[in-house]
Amino acid sequence: MTSVLCRTFASHITLLILFVNGKFYKNPELVNANDFFTSGLNIPGNTNNKLGFNVTTVNVDRIPGLNTLCVSLVRIDYAPYGQNPPHTHPRATEILVVVEGTLYAGFVSSNQDGNRLFTKVLNKGDVFVFPIGMIHFQFNPGHAPAVAFAGLGSQNPGVITIANAVFGSNPAINPEVLARAFQLDQKVVEQLQKKFWVDAN
Ligand SMILES: *[C@@H]1O[C@H](CO)[C@@H](O)[C@H](O)[C@H]1NC(C)=O
Repeated sequence: MTSVLCRTFASHITLLILFVNGKFYKNPELVNANDFFTSGLNIPGNTNNKLGFNVTTVNVDRIPGLNTLCVSLVRIDYAPYGQNPPHTHPRATEILVVVEGTLYAGFVSSNQDGNRLFTKVLNKGDVFVFPIGMIHFQFNPGHAPAVAFAGLGSQNPGVITIANAVFGSNPAINPEVLARAFQLDQKVVEQLQKKFWVDAN
């Protein structure tokens, strides 16, 4: 699904539609504070995986009241030298703030823009924006853990991790295709396709 309704006129059509974006659309009169609430974002995610990071996602699945409101939140924990690998959100721009540690963050612009790399070293309190659709990443170059929070402009931003989608697809993409596309020996592609690709996003 590539489009998700944001700020619809849903309130005008509540009587006709019970589901919006595949989520039950609650009659506004029956909504209460708990539909807009969650807790636990003070708790670090477990970064004990191959990449050393963990994303705690607060989207419409966790807060039903976010449906159609075009916003969501994540907490990202990074082990020392951990990384959030190159990925893209098909439906949202992201604005990230570092609250602990240091991150080397960046995104790459489109082919039409020359695939320019935009990077920053971010310290506590620094903010960086990843525009919608751009491939982006964060790496913790420090020997202490790092923590960031990010707002995303969709209640359901989606995430596509590049390595997972390309080398970890199910079923596998024909390795001849990837060998030529990535200028790799087909054996290397087949090895990559056998690896386990962490999905902590
Ligand atoms: C992320 O952290 C949560 C909470 O600690 C844990 O349940 C989950 O398995 C972790 N994910 C990965 C990929 O490490």
